[in-house]
Amino acid sequence: MARVLVLDNGADSARFGFAGSDSPTVVVPNCTATPRKDPRKLIADETESGIKDHSQLAYTRPFERGYLTNPACEVEVWERAVQKLAIDPAKDVRALVMTEPLFTPAALQSRLDEVVFEQFGFQACYRTPAAPLSALDYKLSNPDSRFASDGCCVVVDSGFSFSHAVPIFDNHVLNYAARRVDVGGKLLTNYLKELLSYRQLNVMDDTYMIDRAKRELCFVSTDFGSQLAEAERRGKANTLWRDFALPNFTDTMHGRVLERADLAAAAAAAGDQAPAAAAPAAAASKPSQQEQRLRFNNERFAVPEVLFSPRGIGLEQGGVHEATAQAIAACAPEMQRPLYLNILLTGGNTLFANFKERFTQEIQPLAPAGVRPSDAPSPPSVVARSPPTPSSRGGVSDPLSRAHACSSAQANVHVVVPSDPLLSAWRGGSRLGASEELQEVLVTKAQYEEHGHEICRRGFEMGFGSVPLKRV
Ligand SMILES: Nc1ncnc2c1ncn2[C@@H]1O[C@H](COP(=O)(O)OP(=O)(O)OP(=O)(O)O)[C@@H](O)[C@H]1O
Ligand SMILES: [Mg+2]
Repeated sequence: MARVLVLDNGADSARFGFAGSDSPTVVVPNCTATPRKDPRKLIADETESGIKDHSQLAYTRPFERGYLTNPACEVEVWERAVQKLAIDPAKDVRALVMTEPLFTPAALQSRLDEVVFEQFGFQACYRTPAAPLSALDYKLSNPDSRFASDGCCVVVDSGFSFSHAVPIFDNHVLNYAARRVDVGGKLLTNYLKELLSYRQLNVMDDTYMIDRAKRELCFVSTDFGSQLAEAERRGKANTLWRDFALPNFTDTMHGRVLERADLAAAAAAAGDQAPAAAAPAAAASKPSQQEQRLRFNNERFAVPEVLFSPRGIGLEQGGVHEATAQAIAACAPEMQRPLYLNILLTGGNTLFANFKERFTQEIQPLAPAGVRPSDAPSPPSVVARSPPTPSSRGGVSDPLSRAHACSSAQANVHVVVPSDPLLSAWRGGSRLGASEELQEVLVTKAQYEEHGHEICRRGFEMGFGSVPLKRV
């Protein structure tokens, strides 16, 4: 029987699987690559598996600055995934549910319509930003949480290209209030490469290795000043530094983090009692017997710090917490307190240790302590795209009143993280795809052929907020 295919088409990873499942079946890097000394093109998972030296690959990505600008490259990645899934999109798939970036320009959306309906021949499609799917998954996974009952939330999605704070009202994205910070995992990896290359060893071609090292070694600081002071210290007074062994292409292909205990033992064996926490450049240029090392010291927390202080690298923007506060401030006053009480963190960067703690610490003072509906000014009258009013949603109970009712609660901020921040959008898509309501939001191939791109624009923009989703 034809199934519903769910695709979270991230700029970093494309996740494919079937509606109703817990996890995607195929997760591949959303890119192609050409080895420098070999004209053969590697596609998606081929860019990872069996590659000895990633620095020899020249990558091409379908996404540039957060938008799908290279559909030809995307088609290659999807074809590879379809082949791994062993399906014929035109025959074996009843509908495609997929994510697309917020604020995608219409011209890029139209090109994607062509890829979906004409090149792959999908019978029906529904496209949505990832944020409402993440919110849906969290609500349905935690039915007793206030998240499920309040009807509104803010999804902070910090992924590959950007970080977005997206208010959601009853499954519907409030586009006019969403805010973006131009910092994502790609920028952080590039910044880390620059710091290490300037201070120690040129790793500008080693994006793959440094990205992995970043995931393992970097963390969000909860006390930047004192950790910076500690990172300046030498010897045992500095507990922060870690060494990363570069690949020697015999025991390690991608490098590995060295445990400090092993380093101390190795140093003691070599008659050097104090493991060198000295100048990092010296550590890198004088490696131990077999391994060349990179030392991660203040880089471990200075890099993720950019998420909270983009000004530190010259970006004239506030951090993710300020973007969230601004997004909430742009919503109707009655919704603001419940929004502060329902903040969901998703995306790869939220996996940095201490992200949630630091985010909570930073946003707490930004949350107004006692805005009550009666004190609040009336909602702004001019918005780019108005959210549908509760009355326009046939059959939906009134979430604005629910938000209103809970706005007199005392706590001012509550931040939650889903069980897997990398998969939450896909899982939301899986739930939507398995629900009866999917039928009501799909745009079919026949409709596309009759009415063109316009029907996709109108259909997808409605969102699935207009449908009362039953629990799936
Ligand atoms: N454990 C981790 N710790 C820190 N960063 C991580 C971790 N795992 C992944 N990342 C980073 O998260 C980023 C990818 O995030 P994510 O998978 O949410 O993006 P995406 O969904 O593919 O893209 P988009 O931004 O379009 O949503 C990468 O830059 C990666 O380095
Ligand atoms: Mg994503």
